[in-house]
Amino acid sequence: MIYGTDYYPEHWPEDRWPEDLRLMREASINTIRIAEFMWSVIEPSEGHFDFTLLDKIIGMASSAGMNIVLCTPTAAPPKWLMDLHPDIYQTDGSGKTRGFGSRRHYCFNSVVFKEYSRKIIKEMAVRYSGNKNVIAWQLDNEFGCHDTVRCYCHNCSTAFSKWLESKYGSIAALNEKLGMSFWGQHYPSFESVVLPADTVCDNKAAGMHAHNPGLFLDYCRFASDSVFDYAVFQINELRKYGVNVPITHNFMGSFYDLDYYKLAEPFEFISWDCYPNIAHGPFSSLSEVSYNHDKVRGYRNDKYWVMEQCSGQNGWNYMHETPRPGEIRLWAYQSVAHGADGLVYFRWRPALFGTEQYWHGILDHDGVPRQRYDEIKQTGKELEAISEIVTGSRITSDVCILNSFDNTWSHAYQKHSENFDYNRILYTIHNSITSLNINCDVRAMCPDLAAYRLVVMPAYNISSEEEASLLASYVSGGGCLAITFRSGNRDLYNKINGLVLPGYFRELCGIDVINYDAAGSSVRPVSGITGSLNANTWCDIINGKDSTVLAEYTGGFYSGTPCITVNNFGKGKVYYIGFNTDMPSYSKIFDYISEKAGVRRTPLRPVPGVETVFRTASGSDCIFVMNHNETPVIVPLDRAYTDAISKDRLGECLRLEPFGVAVIY
Ligand code: GLA
Ligand code: ZN
Repeated sequence: MIYGTDYYPEHWPEDRWPEDLRLMREASINTIRIAEFMWSVIEPSEGHFDFTLLDKIIGMASSAGMNIVLCTPTAAPPKWLMDLHPDIYQTDGSGKTRGFGSRRHYCFNSVVFKEYSRKIIKEMAVRYSGNKNVIAWQLDNEFGCHDTVRCYCHNCSTAFSKWLESKYGSIAALNEKLGMSFWGQHYPSFESVVLPADTVCDNKAAGMHAHNPGLFLDYCRFASDSVFDYAVFQINELRKYGVNVPITHNFMGSFYDLDYYKLAEPFEFISWDCYPNIAHGPFSSLSEVSYNHDKVRGYRNDKYWVMEQCSGQNGWNYMHETPRPGEIRLWAYQSVAHGADGLVYFRWRPALFGTEQYWHGILDHDGVPRQRYDEIKQTGKELEAISEIVTGSRITSDVCILNSFDNTWSHAYQKHSENFDYNRILYTIHNSITSLNINCDVRAMCPDLAAYRLVVMPAYNISSEEEASLLASYVSGGGCLAITFRSGNRDLYNKINGLVLPGYFRELCGIDVINYDAAGSSVRPVSGITGSLNANTWCDIINGKDSTVLAEYTGGFYSGTPCITVNNFGKGKVYYIGFNTDMPSYSKIFDYISEKAGVRRTPLRPVPGVETVFRTASGSDCIFVMNHNETPVIVPLDRAYTDAISKDRLGECLRLEPFGVAVIY
C-alpha cells in the first residue's frame, strides 16, 4: 500500500533532507508528494529553468527507495509571470481583479497562461518521465480551491460566448430555451451574452441574486468545463513528453463548483484531501467525512488515494482543535475502510514561514518526532500487516444515493426554502443509512443501477424524461427506488417543466403533489410506519391516488394528508418521501425501506458513534469497526471473530478504546 507524506524540501536546508528521509522510512512511509508550489523555484525568471533542487531531492529520495508523486507546479504562478501578463489574473463577480499574494490566482481560460504552463510541464516531463521512482504525477493542486472555478474576466466572457454558441447554435435558440422573454433579456448575439456576475438586484448579505437561472446553470457548467479542459490539456502535455505512469489530481470533499464526475474521467485514479478536524457541528469526523469518502469513491466508482490525510492540528490564522491521541490513526483507517489504497499525510513538517505556519504535520516545527509521529508509525506498521485483507477486498453496497452537480448548482442558486441545503440533505440521508450499519455508495445517475437493491434519489430537481425511463427500467426489473421532495420539476435548462409534480417521476411514484409548504426551520408533525417525527425545510402536500400511504402529516392545515407513500411499479417499488427531516428520523424511514428492499447490513448491532464498513473478498469478508467516541465502547458481536490488527480472538463482544479500531473477520 502507498503510505506517504507531502513534502516541501524547498522549505528546509538540504542537510536536513537525509534525516527526514530516514525518519520517514522508519515510520513505513514509502512515498513523497512534491513540487506543486515549486514553479518559482524551477523557473525563477522567464525561460530560465533551474532543476538543481528538484534533481537533488528526487535523487536522494530515489536512493532511499522512496516512491515519488511529482506535481505540475501550476497552482502557484510566479510573480514575474503575473507582472508580465496581468491578464492571467482572475476577476471576481464584482469586477475586481483577484491579485497576487496567495496562490491559484490564474484564470483557466487564459491562453497566455496555458502557453506558460505548457513550457514548464514540458521541461518537467522530459526531465523526469524516465525516473522509475516517479510512480505518479499530480496535476496542479486542488483545482477550485479558494473559490477559483468561477472567474468573470474578459477571457472567460469570450470563452463563454463560444461555449454557448456551440451548445445552442443560434442566439434565437438560446433566448427561447433559457426563457429570455422574462424581463425582456433577449440577447442579440452570443458575443453580447453576459457572465452572470453581480447585478443591481444582487444582495450578497441577503443571499439574493437575480440572473436567469438557466444562464447561471450554463455558466456553472461552462466554468467547470474550463477546469476540465485545462486538466485534459495538462494530461496531454505530460503524455506527449513521455509520462507513462498514472496521472491523478487531488479533489476536495467540500468543493462543489466542479463536476467531479466529469473531471474524474481522464485520470487513472483520483485522490482527495481529507481534514476531519476542520469538519464542525453536525459535519463531524464521522458523518461528513464518511460521506465524503463514499462520495469520492463514487466519482470513478473505484478505489482512490487520500493525497492529503490530516496529521495534526491545523488552521491558517488560528488553529483548530488538536487531534486527540488515536484520532489520526482512526481517520487513516476510516480512509482505508472506505476504499483508499493510497494514504499520503499532509504534511511532513509545518513550515516556519508563510500562510500555513499553523498547519501542522507529522513532525513539529522543531523537527522533533513526537506523539503524532509515533501514532503514524504504528498505523503504518499495522497497515503493512493487514495489507492483504485491505488490497484483497472491496466495498460492496446494496444502496446507492444519486448525486448530481447540475442539482447542486441549481439548488444553491434557488434554494426553495430558507434553510434548504442539497448537500446537507444528501449527507444526512447517507448518514441515516450508514448508521444502520449499511454500506452506501454515492454516485451520479448511471445505467448500472441494477446492482443495487435500493436507489435513493434526494431532491432530484434538474432531470429529464431519459432519466425517468432509466429509473423506470430499474424499478420494473425489481429495484427499489426512494424519491424525495423537490424532484422531477425542472428541465435541463433549469426551467420549471410545468408538469404535475413530481414531474418526470409522477408515473413512477403514482402520486400527485398538489401543493407544498416551504416550512424553513418550522417543524410539522408526521406520524406513520416510522412513529412520530418532525418534518422541516420542505413539505409536499400530496394526493396519494392509488399508492399506499405509509405516513401522514398530523398538524397544520394539511393534517391528515399523505407524506410518505409507496407505489408498486413493475416488479419493484417506488417510495416517495415528501418532506425533509433530521438524521434520526431519516434513519427510521430508511430502516423500514431498506429492510423491505432486502438490503444487507453488517451483522453487528449499531452502536452510536461507531462506524462499520463491510468489505468483501473472494476468501473472507471483513468489517472495519471504528469508534469515533472519546470514550471506550463495547460492540456486541453476532459470532466469534478475529481482529486482524491485534490478532485477538473475539467472543461475545468487542471492546474498543476511545478512537479505537478493529478489522474483524
Ligand atoms: C489544502 C491544500 C494544501 C494546503 C492544505 C492546508 O487542502 O491542498 O496545499 O493548503 O489545504 O491548508
Ligand atoms: Zn477568467
